[in-house]
Amino acid sequence: MKYVIGIDLGTSGTKTVLFDEMGTVIASALVEYPMYQPQNGWAEQKPLDWWNAAAETIKTVIEKSGVGAENIAGIGISGQMHGLVMLDENNDVIRDSIIWCDQRTAAECEEIEAKIGRARLIEITANPALTGFTASKIMWVKNHEPENYAKCAHILLPKDYVRFMLTGEYATEVSDASGMQLLDIANRCWSDEVLEKLDIDKKLLGKVYESPEITGYITEEAAVLTGLKAGTPVVGGAGDNAAAAIGTGTVHDGDAFTTIGTSGVVFAHTKEMAIDPNGRVHTFCCAVPGEWHVMGVTQGAGLSLRWFRDTFCADIVANAENPYKVMDDMADNAGISARKLLFLPYLMGERTPHLDPNARGAFIGLSAIHDRGDMIRAIMEGVSYSLADCLSVLDEMGVRPEKMLACGGGGTSVLWRQMLADIYAMPVSTVDSKEAPALGVAILAMVGAGIYPTVQEACETILRLKTTTDPIADNSEKYAKVYAIYKALYPHLKEDFASLARALP
Ligand code: XUL
Repeated sequence: MKYVIGIDLGTSGTKTVLFDEMGTVIASALVEYPMYQPQNGWAEQKPLDWWNAAAETIKTVIEKSGVGAENIAGIGISGQMHGLVMLDENNDVIRDSIIWCDQRTAAECEEIEAKIGRARLIEITANPALTGFTASKIMWVKNHEPENYAKCAHILLPKDYVRFMLTGEYATEVSDASGMQLLDIANRCWSDEVLEKLDIDKKLLGKVYESPEITGYITEEAAVLTGLKAGTPVVGGAGDNAAAAIGTGTVHDGDAFTTIGTSGVVFAHTKEMAIDPNGRVHTFCCAVPGEWHVMGVTQGAGLSLRWFRDTFCADIVANAENPYKVMDDMADNAGISARKLLFLPYLMGERTPHLDPNARGAFIGLSAIHDRGDMIRAIMEGVSYSLADCLSVLDEMGVRPEKMLACGGGGTSVLWRQMLADIYAMPVSTVDSKEAPALGVAILAMVGAGIYPTVQEACETILRLKTTTDPIADNSEKYAKVYAIYKALYPHLKEDFASLARALP
């Protein structure tokens, strides 16, 4: 039996899982770390926190499992996308990483579109300039911290920094690189045109691989720190969503999944490249070599519920073994539409479908009758409506999923899955693994190490559907009425959000 390791570098923590070649979890470990918000709308993390968490969790899973390091055939890394890691010529981190949900770069997005042209930018990078993406973060450092930019010798994404610490290689792979807005998405290579127009030196960027390809080998130094064997191969891995796609078997046309993690994503596989000319959903290279995916992203999915838990539910957190389960029960009791309470989940601005960094969260319809259960219900429904918005943009593009899976922390909630099935009016299934991104990159490592010939064949052998939740027609009808009201709220509030941003910078 051979074994592989999948590392999932998330926003709240890094989880490392050791699997056997059939995808069975042998051991797992999690280390959490903070996110810093030095200003309203900013979000940063420390790359060394990621590396320390990865090294510690790798060591723990090897020790806990009793699997000898010589039996580990390969390693894959999944990462939160878009974060900017800058290293100086001594490979020291220059500043904290500006991460995916940071919204400070609206001016840089305008600058990028002025330099390249919006239509041409969408043609090359398949996306308009977005505050979440790495290119605008690089431009922000150039504009606001020229002394830091002058020191920069290497630009890496979060998981690619961990790869560098493990292997000494400056490398990335197509799925995560797609979210930098510097990649030519059709040709799966850096775009010389975009780099030239933004005056970013290509030498700063890592070598681009396909996701299952071997990108380097564990160094002697990393072996000492992690317990791995020097020479163990590290494959490209994937951005967290592309990794979850592999881990749920979303690898053919018609396959799709919804993740409710910190952010929420509706992801559909496409063999051919499909672009929304309005840029409301992202088109990225996927981790299946030579293929693509489209995905809509809502910035504050699980983040909204965690915000409510941390801000208003200290008693539940103090007393319950699983606070989310208690909150789930409270939401269940509240019933559909939470006694006329709606929630807009734009706590970190919004991407799909509004592309508006100024958008803010809102409870609409509050009355003295409402309690925390209603508010939790409204949050879960608001996030689900926002995910339905993502699905409807895919539909407009002619991308129509035949099969929908649910994953991420929120996907483990029976209530949330029923809500998605009812609101999408289609069955929503789960797969037999809770570790979609870690399993996804572990599968890529199995392919890279030659255990399986292709990603699809590995998925067919390893993955099984677990449960399927069917929509309840009566619920779908009730939700459809509220969804129509939800959809009207943002257009009513858009100008007010903009005024708020202008009035109180
Ligand atoms: C995708 C995105 C998020 C992050 C964090 O574009 O920004 O899904 O990868 O998980």
